[in-house]
Amino acid sequence: MSSRVALLNRITHYIVNRKGKQMRPMFVFLTAKMISNGDVSERTYRGASVLELIHTATLVHDDVVDESDRRRGFFSINALWKNKIAVLVGDFLLSKGLLLCIDNNDFDLLKIISVAVREMSEGELLQIEKARNLDITEAIYYEIIRQKTATLIAACCSLGAASVKPLSEEVETMRKFGELIGMSFQIKDDLFDYGTQQIGKPTGIDIKEQKMTLPLIYVLNHCSKKEKSWLINSIKNHNKDTKRVKEVIAFVKDNGGLDYAVSKMKSFQEQALKLLEPFPESPYKNSLILMVNYVIERNK
Ligand code: IPE
Ligand code: IPE
Ligand code: MG
Ligand code: MG
Repeated sequence: MSSRVALLNRITHYIVNRKGKQMRPMFVFLTAKMISNGDVSERTYRGASVLELIHTATLVHDDVVDESDRRRGFFSINALWKNKIAVLVGDFLLSKGLLLCIDNNDFDLLKIISVAVREMSEGELLQIEKARNLDITEAIYYEIIRQKTATLIAACCSLGAASVKPLSEEVETMRKFGELIGMSFQIKDDLFDYGTQQIGKPTGIDIKEQKMTLPLIYVLNHCSKKEKSWLINSIKNHNKDTKRVKEVIAFVKDNGGLDYAVSKMKSFQEQALKLLEPFPESPYKNSLILMVNYVIERNK
């Protein structure tokens, strides 16, 4: 990661010293090991590194987009160095990731990763487009989270498979598996926003940003006309009013929004676990199942 630019070195050190959960590389390794019975290659290691690098790059950019000042328990890059620098550092991390594939001729893996990067940008933009109109349906919500989050986890699992068994049927099965896990992962992330737990980044900000997530979408579609106009008016015109936002959050909780989102999160998880059934028992498969459970039981 080192560069001749001292400013960049300072920032990459800062990033490397504040690691996240590193779930994406874990998905790469566990998938690869389940499929190769433990026999992973250098390609697997490189793929895992690239995916965590790209994930980190998107978080640096996401905090600019969301104007968020905290990440992984400390200040975000934009909070410390401002947007201009965060945009450029995100690009640097992204290109470093892509070059790691190119320099090693891992073009099949590069393809998987590039598709995910394209989808993530589209997902973030679709989210902005829909937030503007407040006209989001449950189907559109799923499309947003599939693109912005699930495709990267899908890439982790398909890359894990492709790194040890290129062009096999398992590559597609594991892509689908990762996509389903990614859906429950983002629903869990959106549920955190309604909580009061310390998760290392701000909570209670989605409504302030007019970001409509599953608990709110469900409640909007299952309340009276009068309640619906109150909700829409709150989000449209009073989204910076802390007291009003608290009332909206309470309304969502009291009307089953969180319970509904939890049930959907579990249903995606169950569909994912079904895809693992045909694989023979192994310690790797068991660990992968534990990871799947961690996605919805985690507390940060
Ligand atoms: C955060 O991902 C971004 C989302 C897609 C919700 P993680 O929760 O995996 O972030 P880190 O890497 O552990 O900080
Ligand atoms: C996740 O989006 C980041 C990407 C998928 C690029 P969010 O904005 O929902 O995630 P957090 O809550 O900031 O981690
Ligand atoms: Mg964000
Ligand atoms: Mg965001």
